[in-house]
Amino acid sequence: MKAAVPFNRAVTAPRQLEYVEQSFASARLAGEGPFTERARHALSALLGTDQILLTPSCTAALEMTALLAGIGPGDEVIVPSFTFVSTANAYLLMGARPVFADIDPVTMNISPDSVASLITERTKAIVPVHYGGRPCDMDALLAIADQCGAMVIEDAAHGLFATSRGTPLGRLGSMSTFSFHETKNLSCGEGGALVINDRQLWERACVIREKGTDRTKFMLGLTDKYTWVDVGSSYLLADPLAAVLLAQTEFATETQKRRETAVSAYTEELSTWSEKHGVSLPAPDQPEDDPAYHMMPILLRDNPTRNRFLEHCRAHGVQSVFHYLPLHRSPMGQRIGGDAASCPVTDDVSSRLARLPVFSDMKDGELDRVIEVVLSFSA
Ligand SMILES: Cc1ncc(COP(=O)(O)O)c(C=O)c1O
Repeated sequence: MKAAVPFNRAVTAPRQLEYVEQSFASARLAGEGPFTERARHALSALLGTDQILLTPSCTAALEMTALLAGIGPGDEVIVPSFTFVSTANAYLLMGARPVFADIDPVTMNISPDSVASLITERTKAIVPVHYGGRPCDMDALLAIADQCGAMVIEDAAHGLFATSRGTPLGRLGSMSTFSFHETKNLSCGEGGALVINDRQLWERACVIREKGTDRTKFMLGLTDKYTWVDVGSSYLLADPLAAVLLAQTEFATETQKRRETAVSAYTEELSTWSEKHGVSLPAPDQPEDDPAYHMMPILLRDNPTRNRFLEHCRAHGVQSVFHYLPLHRSPMGQRIGGDAASCPVTDDVSSRLARLPVFSDMKDGELDRVIEVVLSFSA
C-alpha cells in the first residue's frame, strides 16, 4: 500500500521556530509586538498599502468589517451562497440579514446579475469572495454598489498573491479580509488580516480591535492615557503567531513556486482525461491576472459521479474533499429566510465539485500519486 496523500499539510517556513523563540525571548507576546510590525511590513509590500491590521482569523476581520460598516438590525448584506459560513455569520452576528446571491458557473464567483436582482433599499454591503483567488467581476460589483450606496467588502481569504489587472486582490473594495488558517498559502495556524482601503475607516478600525479603546493612540504617544471610546472587541494576533507569519512571508516565493508546480501539473496531466470523462478543470486565468495557486477544484459530471470519485480517491489513499455546502439551503440559512430555489448554479456546482490536494511541501511522489489515482477513475 502506497503512503496516503493528505488533502493539506500546513506550510512550514524554515525560520519560523527561530522567530517564535525570539518572540518568547522578547517577552512581548501580546498583539502589536515587534513581529507584528515586521509581518505587517512584509504584507504591505505584497498588497501595496500599510493600512493592514493582523487579526486572530479572517472570521474576526470580517466581524470588524461589519462593525466598521455600521451594519445592524434591518440591514441586508449580499453574500454568495457558495462560501464559508464566516462570510455570512459576521453580518448576522450584528443583527443584519445575509442575502444569498448565486455564482457564475465558470469562475464560481458571485454573479453580478444575481447581486443586482437582490438589491433593496436595505442593502448595506456586498461581500464578494474571490473563489480560489480568481478575481470577481469587481467593475460590475462596484458599479452596482455605487448605484445603491452600498459598501463593497472583499472576502479575500483565498486571494493573497493574486492580482486583477495588476491590482492585488483585497485592494478593490472599501475593506478586505485575508486568512492565514492552516489550509491557506501562508499560515500561522489561525490568523487573518484586515485591509482598509477607505482611509476614513482606519482610525476607528484601530479602536474597535483594541476593545473599543484608544490604546493605539496611547502607544503612539498621542495621548497620555487610554480610555473606552467606542464599541469594540479583541481582534489582535498574538506576537508569536505574527513571528510564524513573518517567516512564512520570507518563504513565500518558494511556497508559491511549489503550489504553482502542483496546479500546473494537474492542469497539464489531467487535460485529456478531463475531456474524455466530461470533467471541467478550472478555466484558464486571464493573461493579465496573477493567480493565487490556492486550490484545484474540478467539476465532475453529476453528483453520483462526484461521490464515486471521492470514494475512489479515498480507497487509493488520496484525500480529495468537497465544499461548500450552499448556505442558502443550510439549516441556519433556511432559518434566516434563504430561498431554496434561489441559487441553482450554486446547488449544481456544490453537488459536482471535488478538490485535489494542493500544498506547498507536496513531494514529487505525492503529486504523481494523485495524478495516477485520478487518471485511473472512469466517470
Ligand atoms: C471564503 C472564506 N472566508 C472566510 C474564511 C474564514 O477564515 P478563517 O478560518 O481565517 O477565519 C474562510 C476559511 O477558509 C473562507 O474560505
